Amino acid sequence: MVVRIVETFAETRRAARDGAGTIGLVPTMGYLHEGHLSLISATADIADLVVVSLFVNPLQFDDGADLAAYPADLGRDAELAKAHGADVLFAPSVAEMYPEPPVTTVTVRDLTDRLEGAHRPGHFDGVATVVTKLLCGLRPDVASFGRKDAQQLAVVRRLVADLSIPVDIRGLPTVREADGLALSSRNVRLPADARADAVALSRGLFAAADAIEAGERAAAAIERIAEDEISRTPGIGIDYVALVSQDRFAPVDRLDRPAVLATAATVGGVRLIDNVHIDVVGDRFVVDRGRRLERRSVLYEEEPCC
Ligand code: PAJ
Repeated sequence: MVVRIVETFAETRRAARDGAGTIGLVPTMGYLHEGHLSLISATADIADLVVVSLFVNPLQFDDGADLAAYPADLGRDAELAKAHGADVLFAPSVAEMYPEPPVTTVTVRDLTDRLEGAHRPGHFDGVATVVTKLLCGLRPDVASFGRKDAQQLAVVRRLVADLSIPVDIRGLPTVREADGLALSSRNVRLPADARADAVALSRGLFAAADAIEAGERAAAAIERIAEDEISRTPGIGIDYVALVSQDRFAPVDRLDRPAVLATAATVGGVRLIDNVHIDVVGDRFVVDRGRRLERRSVLYEEEPCC
C-alpha cells in the first residue's frame, strides 16, 4: 500500500475508520531518522493502522530562526514512513492546525518548571497544545513517543491523565548512532570537528549507568560521575546533569523510584539533550541505554535508504 498523504483531520479520521481495528499515532515534526522510524515500526507491530503526523509546530519554537531553519523533505519522509509500516501521513498546513491563533492552550504546570522547561519558556505549552489537538482530532488508541525527549514524554503522560484522554501512551527507547550519540535532527547541524565531541554526552550517561548497575544510589554521586566524564571533553558547555523522577521530573536525592538521568549541553554551537531512563523491574533498577544502529544514520544520506 502506498502511504496516503492527507492534509485534514477529517480525511485522516475517514482513512483511519476505513480500516478496521486499532489506530496508532506517531507524532513527528518530519525529516525522519531512525529514531522516528523505530517508533513507526514499533507502532505498526501493535496497531492495525498507523498514522504518522508531520507538522512543524510553530507554537513550540521560542526562536523564529530555529523554526525557519527546520529541515523538511516530505517526499523522503513519505518513502521512509511507508517502508516502516505507516499507512497514512497526516501533514496539515498551519491553517488546518490553527485556523485561528489559539486562545485555548494546554499548560502542564510543575514538571515543566525545570530543566528543558526552564531553558525554553513556553516550549512545553506549545508541545502540550499540539499533542492534545492531535489526540483529540485523530482519536488514536495508542500514541508512541521517544524516551529521547524524556521531559516531553512525562508532559504528555501527565496531560493525558489529567484530561482523561482515552489513549495508551507508549514511551520507546532512544535510538543511537553506533558510537552512542542519540539521533536528533539537530545532529546534522554539528560542525565536523564537534561531531566526535558530541559523543561525550552519552559516554557520561553510560559511565553513570555503570555506577548505578554497580549499586550507586546517591544522586549527587551519580550526577558527578556523568558530569566529570562529559567535561573531560574540552569545549562542551554543560547546561545540566540531573537525576529526576520519571513522572514529575522532580530532583531526587537517592535513586529510590523510576528516574531519568538527563543532560543538556552545547557542543559546537548546537544544544543537545540526552538521557538514560532508570526503570524499576521487580526489586531491581534497570537502566535503559537505548539501542545503537549498526550503520550510519539515514540522516546523512542524500537519498532515502530503504
Ligand atoms: P520530533 O522531534 O520530530 O520527534 C518526534 C518523536 O520522535 C518524539 O516522540 C521524539 O521523542 C522521538 N525521537 C526523536 N529522536 C529520537 C531517538 N533518537 N530515538 C527515539 N525516538 C526519538 O518531538 C517532537 O517532534 C514534537 O515535539 C512533537 C511531539 C511531534 C509535537 O510537535
